[in-house]
Amino acid sequence: MKNLNLTVNGHSVSAAVEPRTHLADFLREHQGLTGTHLGCEHGVCGACTIELDGVPARSCIQFAVRCEGAQVRTIEGFDDDAVMQHLRSAFSAEHALQCGFCTPGMLITARDIVTRLPHLVNAADEARIRRELAGNLCRCTGYQGIVRAIQRVLRERAEVLRAACVIIS
Ligand code: FES
Ligand code: FES
Repeated sequence: MKNLNLTVNGHSVSAAVEPRTHLADFLREHQGLTGTHLGCEHGVCGACTIELDGVPARSCIQFAVRCEGAQVRTIEGFDDDAVMQHLRSAFSAEHALQCGFCTPGMLITARDIVTRLPHLVNAADEARIRRELAGNLCRCTGYQGIVRAIQRVLRERAEVLRAACVIIS
């Protein structure tokens, strides 16, 4: 067993873990954060995507002990996040989920796209959005609804920003 100290969803966590435990198992089994799903466990499907030091990462191919001192955020840690709330509403409105298995990881990747690439507001940007989503597989939706939901959030956030700029000027 090895000692591990890290921050999970804003809380300091200390635990003794087996060196072979991967981060997803640590989050699900030690921390009870079952919103992080496990599909392939090979780094392919993206169901286990979490935020590691502010960047989306696959928790199934990350040893927990390698995360000493890290800041981890799981889907449960986004409850008060305005961008995530916006995405959740858009996913619902655009029918971007069916079974929901891919959805936690998909939402974390979607939030990364929306915050990192806010300029992808034109129809021609769809290909780039799809490329950004390539690491998250969905067996149900055919991706159309997911892409539409992300486009909707990008568009609505850009409109709010534009309106704010007009008021200031
Ligand atoms: Fe981690 Fe599939 S479960 S990428
Ligand atoms: Fe079922 Fe994506 S909604 S896998």
